[in-house]
Amino acid sequence: MNKLAVFPGSFDPITNGHLDLIERGLKVFDKILIAISINAGKKPLFTLDERIGMIKASLKGCIFESCVEVDAFDGLLVDYVKKVHANAILRGLRAISDFEYEFPMSLMNRNLSEEVETLFLMTGLRCSYISSSIIKDVVVAGGCVAGLVPEPIEKKLKERLLNDVGAGQNLPRIVVSHAKPEPVLHKLAS
Ligand code: PNS
Repeated sequence: MNKLAVFPGSFDPITNGHLDLIERGLKVFDKILIAISINAGKKPLFTLDERIGMIKASLKGCIFESCVEVDAFDGLLVDYVKKVHANAILRGLRAISDFEYEFPMSLMNRNLSEEVETLFLMTGLRCSYISSSIIKDVVVAGGCVAGLVPEPIEKKLKERLLNDVGAGQNLPRIVVSHAKPEPVLHKLAS
């Protein structure tokens, strides 16, 4: 029987860390279904269609391309996992902070559905510091992310973050302001 894993996430954008996890996940599963969460609460840099296209472009030519599919889901992850008859959820763990984030999520998923298991793979050492948000931070600040994301992603990130007017406004960490700071003390006194 073919074993299928759902690999859920925001993928805003996909990184080499994700690809590393997929490649290693395929040692356990026959097929991996990348499932992009359509989460209205988050403000992604790339639209859902862009993210799907970017994932497909990144997979092109990979030796495991035929074993990976891309989809999107809304609502509960466990419902989606059951809908596609997957055997498990696949997630990656980098540092302790990841564990703190993943632990309640996996327990909640098990609480919602006992039949859905989550399988965690430790990140590859080369990818342990890569995250979509740190990649965006580096690009917006003019740094190089070659080798950390697939080539089509590097290009797209530069186009979006360095050329687009208003780029980076969805980034939570870096705030660039040219406005004169308000006189805070004066404001408090008045
Ligand atoms: O890559 P991310 O953003 O860390 O992925 C988070 C994701 C998509 C796995 C998580 O937010 C999720 O499962 N969302 C679906 C909603 C859901 O099922 N919530 C209950 C479990 S916490």
